[in-house]
Amino acid sequence: MKVNFVDVQRQTQNLKKDLMPKIEAVLDKSDFIQGQAIAEFEEAFAKFCNKKYCVALNSGTDALEFSLLAYGITEGEVITAPNSYFSTAMVITKVGAKPVFVDVDEESFNLDVEKLEAAITDKTKAIIPVHLAGQPADMDPILELAKKHNLIVIEDACQAHGAEYKGKKTPIGETGCFSFFPGKNLGSFGDSGAIVTDNEEVMKQAHMLRNDGCKEKYQHHVIGFKSRMDTVQAVILTEKLKHLANWIEQRRECAKKYDALLQGVITLPKEMSYAKHAYHLYVVRTEKRDELQNYLAEKGIATVIHYPIPIHKQKAYEERNTESYPITEKLSKTILSIPIFPEITEEEIKYVVENIKAFMEKN
Ligand SMILES: Cc1ncc(COP(=O)(O)O)c(C=O)c1O
Repeated sequence: MKVNFVDVQRQTQNLKKDLMPKIEAVLDKSDFIQGQAIAEFEEAFAKFCNKKYCVALNSGTDALEFSLLAYGITEGEVITAPNSYFSTAMVITKVGAKPVFVDVDEESFNLDVEKLEAAITDKTKAIIPVHLAGQPADMDPILELAKKHNLIVIEDACQAHGAEYKGKKTPIGETGCFSFFPGKNLGSFGDSGAIVTDNEEVMKQAHMLRNDGCKEKYQHHVIGFKSRMDTVQAVILTEKLKHLANWIEQRRECAKKYDALLQGVITLPKEMSYAKHAYHLYVVRTEKRDELQNYLAEKGIATVIHYPIPIHKQKAYEERNTESYPITEKLSKTILSIPIFPEITEEEIKYVVENIKAFMEKN
């Protein structure tokens, strides 16, 4: 038996009948750039997140970079977690600021709020909490600290579409960034992303930044970027968005089954008391991680490590080699994301469980 890590193909095939007429309509209209469908998606996704505005872009990375720029952050320090996808820190460096890392909490995998205040200096401009794996960071203390120290908060919700914190969908603060990379909880047929915000000025700045700095046609107010979401991606996302709440429930069902069947077998992910986890990833932990991954691969089960090298240990941040974030480093050696996706079958879940059990019994 073969179990994919995420089966984008299965989802695409299931939706093909509904998606093809929408894609054909874009072809018929040929409004490929900034077509009507962009505004429709923006309205629908802003509503889903309970935010006033959504700005559709061509990646989550750009969403993060444009958010920093829209808030005027071009120097100073920005605090984030070293346990994230590289982009989260990369954009901080790109805009001219310095990423300052705060280690994560071992249970949530997200910013350890106990360690946050000590990292704030008079150079700190912003905090980028990451809602890793689909579980929100502990936002109340983060927002409180930000208020106390007059800091901007931009949430990296690239893995957390539809995740909830104390009953509220992410982003919890004013502004959050999403990726619609194909394997995400809501994925397009290529790269795309978005900013959602309640801040009108951030929305306006992001509109300019995505479109070569244009305010109106051929009137360039700032040095911008070329980062518009393709119209065809917007129709796909609008159609898929109708299924997102259901898909999250299916992911949660899958997680519940893993929780029950793997209890006592391996270290399981913990849903924090404040969270409704969206289970973009289901991350187990064992000291024998590499051996387990190889064993599962031999059995046809695909797994991924999110992430094998913490950001401060990446070659691009070589100068940070002396820095140490023990929890992040420990996690990077023990974590393994096992298959989870809405369409996963009972049989596939059982096969994954059986093989994890078989490995753990032998080792
Ligand atoms: C936590 C996190 N931040 C940022 C990004 C960047 O998003 P994109 O790949 O759409 O640029 C990703 C995507 O993998 C992510 O998982």
